[in-house]
Amino acid sequence: MRIRDKVCIVTGGAVGIGRIYASALAAEGGRVAILDIADGEGLAAELGGIYLKTDVSDAEQVQDAVAAVKARFRRIDVLVNNAALFSALPLARYDQIAPDLWDRVMAVNLRGAFLMIRAVGPVMEAQQSGRIINITSGTTYKGMPQMLHYVSSKGGLVAMTRCLSRELGASNVCINNLSPGLILSDSIKANAEHVDMASDRVIASRALKRHGYPEDLIGALLFLASDDSAFVTGQTIAVDGGSVNT
Ligand SMILES: NC(=O)c1ccc[n+]([C@@H]2O[C@H](COP(=O)([O-])OP(=O)(O)OC[C@H]3O[C@@H](n4cnc5c(N)ncnc54)[C@H](O)[C@@H]3O)[C@@H](O)[C@H]2O)c1
Repeated sequence: MRIRDKVCIVTGGAVGIGRIYASALAAEGGRVAILDIADGEGLAAELGGIYLKTDVSDAEQVQDAVAAVKARFRRIDVLVNNAALFSALPLARYDQIAPDLWDRVMAVNLRGAFLMIRAVGPVMEAQQSGRIINITSGTTYKGMPQMLHYVSSKGGLVAMTRCLSRELGASNVCINNLSPGLILSDSIKANAEHVDMASDRVIASRALKRHGYPEDLIGALLFLASDDSAFVTGQTIAVDGGSVNT
């Protein structure tokens, strides 16, 4: 029970890998708040937590949701910025990406994390404790083609983590990146284009020659959420079978 009684927000926690994160934090004793545009009511009830329908790109919705979590639990210990536009994005050359789609990807993946931290950070600073985990991506290190919007947004998140580790450190708030390689989440498996990327080429790039699954990420997530990582901030842990070195 490494997360016992810690209040944990998981954005995008209703489906996909976020659902696995929320379940793992609850299994370790965490009190979980799921913020998602997808319905997480049933999962929250199952985990003894709460679900707040929230578009993370909307500043007002984020402020309201964070205030509701604070009102309900009185504190916020862990924020997992997992919500993102990813599996639904079609692969496209840089010159085929519509500017509106670029803006939307940045709004959810980068602005969304910023808005969440902007709302949660002061709560953690007042507590003089907190853990922020930004879910980034191995694509940032590899420069994966045909996903320029997505990869750029995750690169921004890596930079955000480094900057904020310096701003939040004085208040004993740690912020780190969890950087998965290609993970066969439910949503990825439902998207043939992405599954194709998980072919021999991806596995060949790894030191460990197999597919990655959501459960592979749990150990690193719990480490970063728990007191075990009390002296770790501004870092990136890649969980990708040894594909990139961060
Ligand atoms: N699956 C992979 O191979 C892989 C690899 C590296 C990184 N990641 C990252 O892991 C995270 C989860 O990936 P996944 O495979 O489960 O993808 P997914 O597309 O299934 O999950 C995204 C989640 O974000 C939510 N979401 C989308 N827009 C939102 C918004 N505006 N406001 C609130 N919630 C919103 C979705 O409802 C969903 O719950 C993402 O950050 C993704 O970039 C995934």
